[in-house]
Amino acid sequence: MKLILATNNKGKVKEYKEILEPLGFCVTSQSEAGIDIEAEETGKTFSENAYIKAKAIYDIKKTYVLADDSGLIVDSLDGRPGVYSARYAEPGKRCDKILSELKGVSFDKRTARFVCCICLIKPDGDVLSVEGRCEGKIGYEKKGENGFGYDPIFLCGDKTLAQMTDDEKNSVSHRGNAAKALMAALKK
Ligand code: IMP
Repeated sequence: MKLILATNNKGKVKEYKEILEPLGFCVTSQSEAGIDIEAEETGKTFSENAYIKAKAIYDIKKTYVLADDSGLIVDSLDGRPGVYSARYAEPGKRCDKILSELKGVSFDKRTARFVCCICLIKPDGDVLSVEGRCEGKIGYEKKGENGFGYDPIFLCGDKTLAQMTDDEKNSVSHRGNAAKALMAALKK
């Protein structure tokens, strides 16, 4: 069963190949499949954006297509940056922006979560959507060198995601949890 991933992000391609190939899928990235499009993420939710990205490729290839969308929700910021996580500030300034917006906010009100939605469209057009979350708090300063994006300010337990090894992060992360939900749904 041929499956196209709606991404060229090498990390994501590797992660999803590891999950999907043992389930019988022959996984290719969108560039390997010769598709050079980037759907505009106009959705209001992660799930809508994942669907938009998958559908753009499904409309061309009519095979299995998988897309994901993820981001950070901060409760005291009315859910920001949310679906705008990748565009919230210039790269390198996003963590500082959140920290300054949360200046003076007490620790118990710094609750936040990462969310990842995965959308799989099947050759007959059937849509499977799953979600994974990672609950935590926004710290007071950046800590750790691993990971990417908002990892240095996101506390999960007593460590930030950037202070965790890849395996530690995968075992608690929103993407890891969404992948587990996908596997469970596909095995049904
Ligand atoms: P996308 O789903 O790959 O488009 O990710 C959207 C944005 O959310 C990224 O650019 C990051 O800023 C943020 N993000 C998503 N997942 C993570 C994560 O695991 N750690 C840190 N930031 C993340």
